[in-house]
This record gives sequence, C-alpha cells and structure tokens, in this order.
Amino acid sequence: NEKPSALIMIFGATGDLANRKLFPSLYRLFEKGNLSENFAVIGVARRELSNEQFQENVKKSVQSAASNGNSNIDEFASHFYYHSHDVTDSVSYGYLREMAVRLDEQYQTNGNRIFYLAMAPEFFGTIATHLNEDGLTDVKGFKRLVIEKPFGHDLQSAKELNNQIRTAFSEDEIYRIDHYLGKEMVRNIEVIRFANAIFEPLWNNRYISNIQVTSSETLGVEERGRYYENSGALRDMVQNHMLQMVALLAMEPPIKLNTEEIRSEKVKVLRAMRTVKDDKVDKYFVRGQYGEGINNGEKVPGYRNEHMVDPQSNTETFVAGKLLIDNFRWAGVPFYIRTGKRMKSKSTKIVVQFKDIPMNLYYKTEQTLNPNLLVIHIQPEEGITLHLNAQKTGNHMNATPVKLSYANTGIDGINTPEAYEKLLYDCMRGDATNFTHWDEVALSWSFVDNISQHWQKTQAHFPNYESGSAGPKESDVLLAKDGLFWWPID
Ligand code: BG6
Repeated sequence: NEKPSALIMIFGATGDLANRKLFPSLYRLFEKGNLSENFAVIGVARRELSNEQFQENVKKSVQSAASNGNSNIDEFASHFYYHSHDVTDSVSYGYLREMAVRLDEQYQTNGNRIFYLAMAPEFFGTIATHLNEDGLTDVKGFKRLVIEKPFGHDLQSAKELNNQIRTAFSEDEIYRIDHYLGKEMVRNIEVIRFANAIFEPLWNNRYISNIQVTSSETLGVEERGRYYENSGALRDMVQNHMLQMVALLAMEPPIKLNTEEIRSEKVKVLRAMRTVKDDKVDKYFVRGQYGEGINNGEKVPGYRNEHMVDPQSNTETFVAGKLLIDNFRWAGVPFYIRTGKRMKSKSTKIVVQFKDIPMNLYYKTEQTLNPNLLVIHIQPEEGITLHLNAQKTGNHMNATPVKLSYANTGIDGINTPEAYEKLLYDCMRGDATNFTHWDEVALSWSFVDNISQHWQKTQAHFPNYESGSAGPKESDVLLAKDGLFWWPID
C-alpha cells in the first residue's frame, strides 16, 4: 500500500462534516496502515480551542470508528493541531503558515499539503485567494485543494468560484468532492460494465429500453432549511450525484482506466445530453414538495413548516426527470432520474430495463413476460440483481421470474464514512478520477440552470406529495406517457 505523507489543513474543523466523516475516515486510514507516520492535521475554524481540546474532539469523533479497542486513538489524535482562524485576515493566515512550516518539519511531510474546505461555501473563494497571497501554497511537495459541494449555485457563480480558486491551484490540483463517487457500488458501475462480456454488447439502444436511477431519502430537510431554500433537490442532488451516475452509466468505454480518459468520456455524455428548457421543462421534468405525513411511524410536518423555511416556499424537495442522450449509443433510450426527501424509504438504485424479446412463446392469455432487469443496489444494500425468466420444476412451458443476486456484505451504506475514506485516500495518492472535473461541473450546471430558470418563473402547486410516499403522482405519469413505470425501489 502506498503511504502518502502530507500536512492536511481542514477548514471547518469544528463542523459536522469534519466530525462525522473526515476524522473517522482519517482514523480508518491510519488504523489500516494506509497513512504514513508522517502526517499531521491542522484543524482550522473560528472558535477558540486549545490543541488539547481539539484532540479531545477528534478522539470523541473517531471512537465509534475504532475497531480495535481504541488502543491507538491517542497516538492518532496526537497528530492533530488547532488554529483559531479569521478567514478574511492575512495576519491569521500568517500564523497558520508558521504553524504549517513547523509541522512540515516536525512530521517530515515532504512539503506536501492538502487544503480541505469543509465549511460554508461563501468563503471558498476568499480562502483560496488568501492561501495563495499569504504564501501557504508555496510548498516543496504537492499542494491540493479539496472542496465540498455546493460548487456554486448556478453556472455563473460556479465560474466565478472556479476562477478564484484557479488563481491558487491548477485544475489538476483541485479535488471537487461528490461523495457519491466514493460509494462502493457507484465505483462498481464501471467494473460491472467493462469487466463483463455479457453486458457491454447489450448496453445500447438496440437492447435497453430505459434506465431508471432513483435516490430516495426518508429524512426531511432537518436543520438545513437556510441552505436548502436556496438550493432545492435539483441543485442539491441532480446537478451532482444524479448526473454523475448517469454519466457513468452512459459513457463509452475509456481507452484506459485513468483519470483523464474516464473524465473525458463522462464529459462527452454530459455534452450529448439534450437541453431541456422553457416549455419543454414541464414535459420532461416533475418537481415536488413534501407535505405532512407519516415517517417511520411518526407524524412529521410538511416542508413549509420546517425550521428556516418560507411558509410559502416554492422550493422543490423532489425531482423526477427524463434525460435523453443524443448519441449513437443512446438515441431513443430514456434515462429517468428521481430523487426526493421524506419518501417511503432510504434507497439508491439503478434499474437497467432491457427490451422485450422479439416474440413471446410463453404467454398464457393476457400474461406477458417480465423484462430482464439489471439492478445495481447502491445503498443501503450494496450489490447487483439480475432478473431473468426460467422454468420452475414441473411447470411445463411456463416462464417464471427468477433473480440472481450478489450482495456486497457488510456496511450499512447510509452516507457511511467509507466513501470519504476512499476519497481522502485517493486525494492523498493524487488520484482525481473520482472527483469532478471543472468541465463536468460546468456542463451539469448549464443543463440544470435551464430547468431552474423555468421553475423560478412559475409558482408550483405545493405541497404535492405526502411524507412517506413515493413522490407526486406526476412522476408516475412521466413514465406512463412512455408506456413505462418506475420499478419499485424497496
Ligand atoms: C448531499 C445532499 O449531497 O447528499 C443531502 O446535500 C443529501 O441533502 C445527501 O441528504 C444524500 O447522501 P446519501 O449518501 O445519504 O445518499
């Protein structure tokens, strides 16, 4: 195993992401021996904390990730330091630089630095500019910027942000996180497609009827009303996670499995995606917002009654859409996507529906054969299921659906730290394949902007689905118009 050494600065070190995901993920890397002894972390945040207090926080946050009786937690936490910071003040960056230089030396990090921005996006640009101007990016080794979503709010703001961070970092030093790309089964899409002789020859418009990608959540907006009001499901989930999964499903086989080739194939998919704008939006996209209902046996309020949410809010908590990819492989095959909060179950699944066979020799009166499906279970179960038809013993001339399943055992994938663990390790090793390139970000925004612009102009009839349901009925109509239906997600 490669054991990269680096000094990691985490901006937003007292925040939720750092505590819930980043510290436990770093700990797991440490525990598995994937992190060399030559690493140090500087936690950066506004609050006043001593190194000791910070180390206590770190220990608390990794406790549940520790599998070996916690024996090495103290040693792990001893690599952590804290700097109380003002993101707009050069003097504060000066102190941070001195601290970094000292730790570079002490931990022999080869001058490698990772800057992880795990905080409110309004400061991303400011921080990047200061890192450059105040000399923190003058390093002997590598320098990398890891940046969390949202990467802008639309194409225009994403461009501005990108220009700002590009003054301090080159494109190949920027690691834009999409945590779906850290999920085991999202990474597996490529393997299922390109390591099997039986799928790729059928992976096109001659044999595939449609592809359905669903990511449903049971949680509501929780404490994130302020952010979510300005985002909505389209920006929060579709622009990034959903389109990334579509790109992986639709891309051509890359000539090599390296960062550049894979990303460039994904970019081509996004370029081929048919623009949906103005009046067309209503034909191809459905938006929804949850009303009150029952969630896990409890009565829950509607979105408009959530904390920090406008009682008249027009923000969508559900999106379903039909995407068309206008290239040779996919012409005519709809990719349906669907995502929503406060739905029936927490589940992310991809269903590839194959076309019906040319002639059904097995039907009895009205009965039709079930189509073949390849289901990729992203979470909470991880695995694949192939739906076939076979004859049950003794049942002459009768085809019955059967399923071949493979389940990746273990982890409950509900946003587990594992995704972050993989992404952090990738970043430390300099592998940017599972991070989004600027071209992908830009193309996704321009696709999504057309839709949000249209939605902004018109008042929606919200709420239009009950909490704990499968979303608004218009979402079913979207497929019914094409003679199809959503395959059940649970
Ligand atoms: C995040 C969104 O990117 O993804 C959240 O901001 C959403 O609103 C989350 O809940 C879903 O991630 P996961 O891994 O639980 O499917």
